[in-house]
Amino acid sequence: LHIAVLMGGWSAEREVSLTSGKGVADALEANGHRVTRIDMDRDVAARLAEAKPDVVFNALHGTPGEDGAVQGMLDIMGLKYTHSGLVTSVIAIDKQLTKAALVPHGIRMPDGVVVASESLYAGDPLPRPYVLKPVNEGSSVGVAIVTEGGNYGNPIGRDAEGPWRHFDELLAEPFIKGRELTTGVLDDSALAVTELRPKSGFYDYDAKYTDGMTDHICPADIPAEIAEAAKAMALAAHRILGCKGTSRADYRWDDTQGVDGLYLLEINTQPGMTPLSLVPEQARYLGMSYNDLVERIVRAAL
Ligand code: DAL
Ligand code: MG
Repeated sequence: LHIAVLMGGWSAEREVSLTSGKGVADALEANGHRVTRIDMDRDVAARLAEAKPDVVFNALHGTPGEDGAVQGMLDIMGLKYTHSGLVTSVIAIDKQLTKAALVPHGIRMPDGVVVASESLYAGDPLPRPYVLKPVNEGSSVGVAIVTEGGNYGNPIGRDAEGPWRHFDELLAEPFIKGRELTTGVLDDSALAVTELRPKSGFYDYDAKYTDGMTDHICPADIPAEIAEAAKAMALAAHRILGCKGTSRADYRWDDTQGVDGLYLLEINTQPGMTPLSLVPEQARYLGMSYNDLVERIVRAAL
């Protein structure tokens, strides 16, 4: 096949996407495909029209790329592409819209409130500890845990003075103490459950992408009942949202509350494909190589 790999772009996760895209493109070449690598810019439609690929592998993360805009462009161009379609992407990129779609189906998610960033100067929107995050970013860009006696913690962009600098609105959610779990879905089955144990602080951008900063325990050392619940919830969310190919469900688990302490935080429709990413790691645990995983994702798009 001739496959165009879309990567990069101008989201806050550009560097992550370039790493995912390189891994995917190398794998596709190793699998015998002809690959056109496209670092997305405003000319992306013209470049795709010229390349005329059989299928597009979407290795983008963040906005645009994960939010439906690129999916809509590809729909209009009549090109097949990997991962979720337009409507699913629009909903899943937005953590509040995701709740509106999933909570009525009985999926437990933290109660959130979207606040004007400016309002944070006047006081806390929720009792501490709580989490502040952009509604539609990935890789923990801009996430801060506001603790008792603390300040706004890890600021957005890592060089700003506070989250309000980069986003007009932020989502505030109660901080769920306990453990960080994640479950990938491939085609129509849940892969495995991984526990993330950052060596310090929380599973933020640096902990996600710096080798050695986080222990990945796959399969997670948790009761079977919790692992089954995480897999069932990931698959249910994947189906309700209409995800295609692969997705990844991220959780907090309050381990003092049993299965009632398992909270879905979000669904990622463009899960990372970097060397430290979780879906490839879970696939490997199940005996599927990275190259085979990439091939499966392409086949699901044809
Ligand atoms: N947003 C990153 C790429 C992930 O979910 O893996
Ligand atoms: Mg995410």
